[in-house]
Amino acid sequence: MMVGKQGKQWRSVCKGLILGTLLTSCMILLYCLSAPEVQFSLPDVPVPYSCSHHPAPAHPVAASNSVHGQEQRCTPKVDIMFLKTHKTASSTILNILFRFGEKQRLKFAFPSSRNDFFYPSPFHRSQVKDYRPGVCFNIMCNHMRLNEAEVAKVLPADTSYITILRDPAELFESSFHYFGRLVPLTWKISGDDKLGEFLREPEVYYDPDGFNSFYLKNLLFFDFGQDNNLPADDPRVEEGIQAIAQRFELVMLVEHFEESLILLKDALCWDMEDLLFFKLNARKGSTVSKLTPELRAKALEWNSVDWKLYQYFNTTFWQKVEAYGLERMAKDVAELQRRNAEMATICIEDGHAVDAGSIHETAMQPWQPIGEKSIMGYNLKKNVDNAHRKLCRKMLTPELQYLMDLGVNLWITKLWGHVRDILHW
Ligand SMILES: *[C@@H]1O[C@H](CO)[C@@H](O)[C@H](O)[C@H]1NC(C)=O
Repeated sequence: MMVGKQGKQWRSVCKGLILGTLLTSCMILLYCLSAPEVQFSLPDVPVPYSCSHHPAPAHPVAASNSVHGQEQRCTPKVDIMFLKTHKTASSTILNILFRFGEKQRLKFAFPSSRNDFFYPSPFHRSQVKDYRPGVCFNIMCNHMRLNEAEVAKVLPADTSYITILRDPAELFESSFHYFGRLVPLTWKISGDDKLGEFLREPEVYYDPDGFNSFYLKNLLFFDFGQDNNLPADDPRVEEGIQAIAQRFELVMLVEHFEESLILLKDALCWDMEDLLFFKLNARKGSTVSKLTPELRAKALEWNSVDWKLYQYFNTTFWQKVEAYGLERMAKDVAELQRRNAEMATICIEDGHAVDAGSIHETAMQPWQPIGEKSIMGYNLKKNVDNAHRKLCRKMLTPELQYLMDLGVNLWITKLWGHVRDILHW
């Protein structure tokens, strides 16, 4: 038993070394490749007011369709910044945005060579594929560490800022599971229940300067470009939350996903059809840990800044739902669920998600976390009728494949995938 355990530890040390070496090489390579692109003297050309093909009148005549009773006419908003937070069902929202963008022929501000904007470095506009000062972009939605001032130099002034939050205890658990192996300070945690062990004495294991340590503390606040190591009562936390509240028109909640989408439709003047979705990137039930009440309390205490953030936007969320009308919301959510279920019957073989091993087409294979195959995917039904075939395929296409279909070259992401295949990671 001892030998086995030591062997295991030895192997993880080896993997760590290989990972470290690879990461270093990749970073040097990246630096060399991206250096010529990073022009710190990019001229500041003012962004356009709008990049919509049909610019809405500057004074909002019918900017809202949330008037009770009859729907008012309005123009769909097409200039959108979606801050893709981590482990928050945001891949599902990306699929929605990709389809909306294709339907409306919008221009995405994508990263080049990989699927994020050099996360966790703060966003810089030089990371945008084909960026030139003054060029119009409609949608930005890939992972980034928010840097508001830089985003505002890429997207037009009428952009709607949208994001999504998740209960911080659940998010912490998910992040620990998904990214734990990328955070060296977890490697020395012993036992099978690493998460429980970590939460028993987080200060012992955690080091704010540790490589990738932000994955394990207030990850949401970090994604907003804020300092994730502040104590919750620091005035900068409150200021950060206020700044987010000022900037973001809608902050959705994973726990109320359908209600969130209905609010999105209302804020952006979309159709119900634009909201159709299948849950992408979901974890297999057996690997979803149920936090005990005790661990949950500890996780919230440890992520107290995110907890404060979440509670603030939980309040504003329910205020929005009330303004929308509780009954109207219930009716719309039921309608969305009915239509999603209908699409599942039309598109998905057996009507539900399956293990990675049971997915026939590589085009439908989702990206997996290091060390396991816990993310589920779907098989497209054979013989889907012509009217639905295209939509079904788009709704089921995982994020990376969809990005490639939209013309993003993902060579760094793919190279990393091949290395993992070779190492059987
Ligand atoms: C969110 O707000 C609702 C309505 O005010 C409340 O019932 C619920 O307990 C809140 N949840 C959290 C996690 O604060």
